[in-house]
Amino acid sequence: MPDRITIDNRLPEDHRARSLRADATAGLTADPKSLPPKWFYDAHGSVLFDRITRLPEYYPTRAERMILRAHAEEIARLSGARTLVELGSGSSDKTRLLLDALTAAGSLKHYAPVDVSEAALADAADALCRDYPDLRVAATVTDFEADLALPEAGGPRLIAFLGSTLGNFVREQRAAFLARLRAALTSEGDALLLGLDLVKDPKTLVRAYDDDQGVTAAFNKNVLRVLNRELRAEFDLGAYDHRAVWDPEAEHIEMRLRARVAHQVKIPALDLTVDFGRGEDLRTEISAKFRRETVTEELAAAGLELAHWWTDPQSRFALLLATPAAAPSLEDPPQPSDA
Ligand code: AVJ
Repeated sequence: MPDRITIDNRLPEDHRARSLRADATAGLTADPKSLPPKWFYDAHGSVLFDRITRLPEYYPTRAERMILRAHAEEIARLSGARTLVELGSGSSDKTRLLLDALTAAGSLKHYAPVDVSEAALADAADALCRDYPDLRVAATVTDFEADLALPEAGGPRLIAFLGSTLGNFVREQRAAFLARLRAALTSEGDALLLGLDLVKDPKTLVRAYDDDQGVTAAFNKNVLRVLNRELRAEFDLGAYDHRAVWDPEAEHIEMRLRARVAHQVKIPALDLTVDFGRGEDLRTEISAKFRRETVTEELAAAGLELAHWWTDPQSRFALLLATPAAAPSLEDPPQPSDA
């Protein structure tokens, strides 16, 4: 490992096992049943997700890349970042567009990716060090939902949260997460770069989560495989149908697994037997879709100001730059006293 790379692993050894057990217990005993989407991404799930990003139906990755290609230079100039922080960096592939632009602009010194997977961070850090000879990589292994892990020094920092991963949170979780992000933007010039998928016709949205080749179906069922392997659960993947449902009120896609017949599933590691009714759904992911007006409001509620908004030519996806809002103006400004 070159000495330009540091990896700070903040997760206790048993973190993954404990949180998987807690999430599975809570989600599978709840009504309706659910599992958090983060458990899709074991090695096999990450390969399947990578295939999803190249499917003809799954436009978000390509749309976001188009925006980055068109505007990375402008983003680099606007941010003047010395440190690029990336939350949920994964393979850091779109990141290169930002690194190229920030390197050309001459401001960049540090890349600080944050991810739960040490293996993904180590691979990405190695590859990036090879291609960016002057870059220092300070990676943090953590769950950014619990611990944002922004590096203290190296401002101004640009915090990138791409891929519409924010859409995995429901509105209340987004409010809390954005408020924590806002609180972390403490250096002069710090900014947030957020990639968000936009509301569009339901048919396009549903197709993006229910492709013809069945890659998304396999990705969805992979969460059961993870439970089978890590909790000795006995899910029969063939007993479920993949479903993608658009909720027009919440404006999110839900991915679900529907039990074809009534059955029971033993999960020995949890000392649990789960009953599924015929046609019962297990929710595995929500993927919220956004509008400019409501995003502006959600940012403002967290003390963030929408500074720039870019979309792809078809307005399918948005990339935005947000900065800490100026101190709020008081509703009742103090009146000059007569004294
Ligand atoms: C990585 C969470 C943004 O919600 O579109 C893709 C994951 N799930 N196909 C999304 C996903 C099904 C993706 N995010």
